[in-house]
Amino acid sequence: MYKAEPFRIKMVEPIRLLSRAEREQKIMEVGYNPFLLRSEDVYVDLLTDSGTGAMSDRQWAGLMMGDESYAGSRSYYRLEESAQEVFAHRYAIPTHQGRGAEQVLFPLLITSPYQLVIGNIHFDTTQAHIDLAGGRGVNLVIAEAYDTAIDHPFKGNIDLQRLREVLQTTPREDIAFILLTITCNSAGGQPVSMENIRETSSLAKQYSIPLFLDAARFAENAYFIKQREAGYENASIKEIVREIFSYVYGFTMSAKKDGLVNMGGLIGIREDEELAMQVRGRVVPFEGFPTYGGLAGRDMEALSIGLHEVLDYDYLAHRIGQVALLGRWLEEGGIPVQKPLGGHAVFVDAKKFLPHIPAEQFPAHVLAVELYREAGVRGVEVGSLMVGRDPKSKEQIVSPYEFLRLTIPRRVYTDNHMRHVAEGLIAIYQRRDQLRGFTFTYEPEILRHFMAKFKPINE
Ligand code: F0G
Repeated sequence: MYKAEPFRIKMVEPIRLLSRAEREQKIMEVGYNPFLLRSEDVYVDLLTDSGTGAMSDRQWAGLMMGDESYAGSRSYYRLEESAQEVFAHRYAIPTHQGRGAEQVLFPLLITSPYQLVIGNIHFDTTQAHIDLAGGRGVNLVIAEAYDTAIDHPFKGNIDLQRLREVLQTTPREDIAFILLTITCNSAGGQPVSMENIRETSSLAKQYSIPLFLDAARFAENAYFIKQREAGYENASIKEIVREIFSYVYGFTMSAKKDGLVNMGGLIGIREDEELAMQVRGRVVPFEGFPTYGGLAGRDMEALSIGLHEVLDYDYLAHRIGQVALLGRWLEEGGIPVQKPLGGHAVFVDAKKFLPHIPAEQFPAHVLAVELYREAGVRGVEVGSLMVGRDPKSKEQIVSPYEFLRLTIPRRVYTDNHMRHVAEGLIAIYQRRDQLRGFTFTYEPEILRHFMAKFKPINE
């Protein structure tokens, strides 16, 4: 059953919908790249769920209790205790955000060039840190994940058969570690089942390879396990989370998602004291002294509270229910989306929405621009534009997906905002044949989607 918001609003931030003429002007001025818009020119901002959530009154109160000591901060000990309680790992080391955690940990695990890091699908900064550390990422998500029409309860699962094959045929010294991303962002916020985590863990043990989690959306993943996996109907979210983390060696986490804070990250290590000490050693030059890791004391205080709040069943039911609500409205309007609906976003299938626009003219980006023009809503392309060119041949890589991601910040927008988004996109769907592709006027060499500029292709 649909759940209404399990909170009421104590503070408001005004937002404004510019006129259509103003929106046309703004998006043209930034070279048709929504990343380059000023946020005040956006009405409903669905660019990301990362660091964009609203804190609770308790978290705001916690800010006042932050201990800003350089070393041995009380807020650090609170955070450590909170993380130990939730994840049952012995070591919890703060970093400024998820990629800070990756930057510190990965070079300790990737010890020779081209070692494999095997996962379901690595997130793009994660892949970048694997590359920077000299490793090679391998994505082994199940095949169903690539077909948006298939309704599979755990589309984030790793393909155990293929994993077994890789483990059997690759010398041990050529594999660095296994990394499961929960939920699997790149596949559409799709969860990984407990069974899949358990079996990956047992394969990893069999081959003496450490298994880590990229745990940015751990609570949303746990909620899906409770909803969909036999045997977990009556378990609490906290029990499910603790079981998930019992199967792994350690984790990296962007706390900007399920930590319910605007900035923060964590490295967790279940029991390997030596690795924890090495991590602390690298945190110092990259992030800061290990009792603050790039965070203010007040940030750690807010995170220690957020880690508990996110386990609340009613919160998660509403959160994931709101994603489902937007998805359902879009589907009722005929719009193709990744199914089932994921945890943090609706992923619109732009390949099906705009079949006449080829990958190299970026159909999902066309939709992102059009949605801003139509409704002042900012979404983001997750497809060939983001994937970029082959570093050697410079050819455009064709992504298996062309998604417009409508990513919902936590506790920020009401269902009426979702209605506005749905109506905007449905209006576009009804005139989709008229949309045209884009070509670059400026294409940066690396991470081009953030800064690129475009012009529409006119026939
Ligand atoms: N891992 C996953 C699965 C992520 O989704 C992200 C960030 C990171 C790692 C990196 O964390 O941003 O704190 O450094 N995802 C954001 C997004 C940016 O929009 O999906 P970070």
